[in-house]
Amino acid sequence: MLAPRKKLWSTPERAVTAAIDFVAPFKEEDVVYDVGCGDGRVLIKFAMLEGTSTRTKFVGVEIDEDRANEARENVEREGLSQRIVILCENALMVDYSDATVVFLYLIPRGLRLIKPILLGEEGKRGGGRRIKIVTYMSEFEGETFVRKVNVEPEHQKGAGWPVHLYELEAQEASLTG
Ligand SMILES: C[S@@+](CC[C@H](N)C(=O)[O-])C[C@H]1O[C@@H](n2cnc3c(N)ncnc32)[C@H](O)[C@@H]1O
Repeated sequence: MLAPRKKLWSTPERAVTAAIDFVAPFKEEDVVYDVGCGDGRVLIKFAMLEGTSTRTKFVGVEIDEDRANEARENVEREGLSQRIVILCENALMVDYSDATVVFLYLIPRGLRLIKPILLGEEGKRGGGRRIKIVTYMSEFEGETFVRKVNVEPEHQKGAGWPVHLYELEAQEASLTG
C-alpha cells in the first residue's frame, strides 16, 4: 500500500514574505502568475494581502491534476474563486502576454524553458511591457536581478535560499512558436 501523499516541496512562508516585499502592493491592473503553483498557497497569500484590490487578477498554472484540484479547493475555501484562476496546463503552452508579475519556484531547467515564453526570444525583446519576476531558489540565467534576499525556511534551520527580483521587458506578443 502506498504511504499517504506528502509534499516534497512548498514555498516556505518566509520566501512568500520576501516575494511580497518585492512586488506588493499590487495594482488594480496587475495580472499575477504563479507558474507551477502547486497547492496555490503563494497566490492565496498575495490575494489576501491587505490592500490588494479585488480587481487584481491572479493565475496559477499547474500541470499536476491533483495539485491543481487541491489549489482550486484551497482557493474556494478562502472565498477567492472570483479572483484566482487555476489552470491545469503545461506552463510551456500558456500565453503570458497579460502578465505583469510572475512568481517562479522551478528548477533551473524549468526557468530556462519558461524564459523565452515569458519574455520573448533573446534579441527580440522591447515591447515596452515591464514584468516583475520573482524566483525562489534558482536564478534566471543571463539576467541581472535588482534585488536579492536569502531566506531561512522555517523547517531548515541554518539554510539560506535566495529570492530574486527581476524587472524585465517582454516583447509584446510573448507566446512563441
Ligand atoms: C517546486 S514546486 C512549487 C510549488 C508551489 N509554487 C508551492 O509553493 O507549493 C514546482 C511545481 O511546478 C509544477 N510543474 C512542473 N512542471 C510543470 C509544467 N510544465 N507546467 C506546469 N506546472 C509544472 C509541479 O507540479 C510543482 O507543483
